[in-house]
This record gives sequence, C-alpha cells and structure tokens, in this order.
Amino acid sequence: MKIGVVGAGVMGTGIAELAARHGHQVWLVDTEVGALDRYYKLLDISHKKQISKGVITSDESNLIRNRIVFINRMDVLGQADWVFEAIIEDAKSKKMLFKMLSEIVGSEIPLSTNTSSLSVTGIASACLHPERVLGVHFFNPVHQMALVEIIPGLATSPIWIEKAQNLMQEWGKTSILSKDCPGFIVNRIARPFYLESLRIAEEGESTFYEIDQSIKQLGFKMGPFELMDFVGNDINYAVSEVIFRETGYDSRYRTTILQKRMIEAGWLGKKSGKGYYAYSSDGKIIHPQIDFKIRNGISQRVLVMLINEAAHLYQNHIASRNDIDLAVTLGLNYPKGLLSWADEIGIRVVVDQLESIYHQYMEERYRPAVILREMVKNNHVFYPEKLTSTSRSV
Ligand SMILES: NC(=O)c1ccc[n+]([C@@H]2O[C@H](COP(=O)([O-])OP(=O)(O)OC[C@H]3O[C@@H](n4cnc5c(N)ncnc54)[C@H](O)[C@@H]3O)[C@@H](O)[C@H]2O)c1
Repeated sequence: MKIGVVGAGVMGTGIAELAARHGHQVWLVDTEVGALDRYYKLLDISHKKQISKGVITSDESNLIRNRIVFINRMDVLGQADWVFEAIIEDAKSKKMLFKMLSEIVGSEIPLSTNTSSLSVTGIASACLHPERVLGVHFFNPVHQMALVEIIPGLATSPIWIEKAQNLMQEWGKTSILSKDCPGFIVNRIARPFYLESLRIAEEGESTFYEIDQSIKQLGFKMGPFELMDFVGNDINYAVSEVIFRETGYDSRYRTTILQKRMIEAGWLGKKSGKGYYAYSSDGKIIHPQIDFKIRNGISQRVLVMLINEAAHLYQNHIASRNDIDLAVTLGLNYPKGLLSWADEIGIRVVVDQLESIYHQYMEERYRPAVILREMVKNNHVFYPEKLTSTSRSV
C-alpha cells in the first residue's frame, strides 16, 4: 500500500516515518517554503533518539529515509492508497486541502485528518465522497505513543473505520474509537486535571508546587503545573478554550484568568524559561526550597472531577468504557483507568464527594453525571466482571 502524507511538520514527519518503518512507500507533501529543511531536521532528531534507544538501527534508519519521498506537489497523491493529513490546525486550510485532495485521489481512497480539535464532519463536508473521510489522531511523538484515536464523522462509512483499525494494528498502535466531539477522548478527559487545579490555585490557599505534590501522591508522574509548563501554557490554554467554546460554553471547561495572564506575561513554561516554575538554563525545574503543606482534599477534588468527566463521556456514548480507560493510561500516562479507579474508590464515595463540592460552590460544573447517580441507586459498577460480587453493569 502506498501512503500519502500532507504536512511535513512534527506530526506529518512522524506519520510518514511510521508508515515507512512498516514497509510502505510514502510521499510526504508540504507546500511551504523551508519545509524540506525542517523535515530533514525533524527526521534527524527523531532517528538519533530512536537509534540511541535501540528502537531502530542505522541501517533501518536509511531504509526508512529511502522509502519517504519529500515533494511539494499534490498531484502525486493520485497514486496513493491512503492519504493522511497533518497540516496546521486551521479549519479553512484543512477544508480547502480536503476539497482539493478529494478531486485528486480516487473516490475509494480514504482521506484521514490528524486534527486535534476540529470537526471531522465539517472537514469531510468539503469533499467529494465524504464517506471515506475520518479522523486518525496520532499523539506526539508518533513513534513512541502507543495510542491512536479513530474518529468517524457523521458521513463516514463503517468500512473505513474497520480498515483504519486494522492498519493501526499493523503499525503497532492501539486504536480507540471516539465520537466526533470537541477534543475527542484524550484531550477532553484531561481538562479537569488542568482546569480544576488552576481553580484551586486561583483560590489562593495552595501554591502550584503544593498542588502538584498533592496530585503526584495519587501516582501521577507529573503534576498539572509541571505538565502545563512542559506542554506550553499557550497550547494547553488553546485546547481548553476550543473545547469550552465548542461545547457551547459548558462550565466544566471554563478557562481561568490565571492561565490567561500567564500567557500574556509570556510565561509559557519550559520553552520560555518561566511558567508556574522557574527553569535553569538546562531546562530543569528550580523547585522552591520551602516546606510545603498538602491541604486535605486537593487531590481528591481533581480526581473526582476527572472521574466525573470520564463518566460523562461514557454516559453520552462518546466512547466505550475500555476505550475511555485506555485513553488515559496509554494517551495520558495516568496510573489507572478513571472508570476502574471509580469502581475501586466506590461510586457512592465519588458521588458524595462531587455533591459535597457542588453544595459548597453551587456551581453547575460540579454536578455528578447522571450515570453516576443512577449507578449509586442501582448499586452498579463500571466493571462488574472484575468483581466477585453480584453487582451488575450499567
Ligand atoms: N504537535 C502535536 O503535539 C500534535 C499532536 C496531535 C495532533 N496534532 C495535530 O496535527 C496537525 C499537525 O500538527 P503539527 O504540530 O505537526 O504542525 P506543524 O506546524 O509542526 O506542521 C504543519 C506542517 O503543515 C505544512 N502546511 C501548512 N499548510 C499546508 C498546506 N495547505 N499544504 C501542505 N502543507 C501545509 C506546514 O508547512 C508545516 O510543515 C494539526 O492538526 C495538529 O492539531 C498535533
């Protein structure tokens, strides 16, 4: 199978490399000036890392390079059997590109988008034969992240979902299936990790460091402020803002003034040398040399909000319970799947905690998902098959 990839940035280069590693001939198309140099640099950095870690040998690196043809013309894609798009995250550019692609490639050739936040249905609507358009959302770095989200748009034919699942399996990825909704599964389910922690910080009783330490005690490898600094405050804020807007301003995703001011100050995190933490010249966090106190309830408040988010996604059939849990363990490196975590804590305990926060703040965002309240009433759990008791599934 011959693969076309459009956009030779971080993700497009990663996808081209992955396809080539699995024996495919690849055309990597980018129309911007300087794209070729950037592609060579990205590939060099990625291959150096992979060779040093023993993921590939230098012979394999050469083979992979030889299978990828970089080109600045779209017409070659007429010969491709699958086209992956990974250009900038801009709806107008993506729609224009998909319209053009759908005229170049045959009506039976799948066109997939790597969009993180745009509507797959909207992108497909610009195409001839929208039934072969779907989201295949890789994570960064592509060669390392095991997870891929597959997102059918409203018009997508089930045959392409199955073919995408099979292809991802061949390429060594675990795919999960998401409805075409803002942020899909991974980016959406993670919002409370950041947004609730930012709210706690805004309340002024705990420092960023104290909140991070408190949450890390639950087994998370990085605290929310360390992670926002790592990803970049601007990028993290932009994702929340899109989800907030696209969900019709659902208060669960409301952005914070604190984070907005950080961005306005240019305190973007590691990349700018200052964020919630200060950074040394070699990029290490300079942790405050002070005693810290962990206030009761911080980590529990963030955790039950994460579980509530997972329950909302399950309740609204955005994904299956297994895919929701895979999204957080493989896509976000969380210590446990959120729905199995809920079972472990006890659904009643989760609902009691959410209701107590809800009564304290009287804010909509803290309302427990209907499904959780129903589960308490009926004594259900998310994974009854993992229990020896008589609890049933919902
Ligand atoms: N970077 C990430 O961590 C990440 C993770 C998952 C998904 N994504 C998504 O993947 C996509 C690409 O992201 P990225 O970080 O690789 O971006 P990037 O800015 O690194 O690369 C985009 C590339 O597309 C090229 N390009 C722009 N318009 C084009 C056009 N019309 N035709 C051909 N080439 C064009 C640019 O020259 C550039 O090389 C976006 O939709 C993004 O939301 C990014």
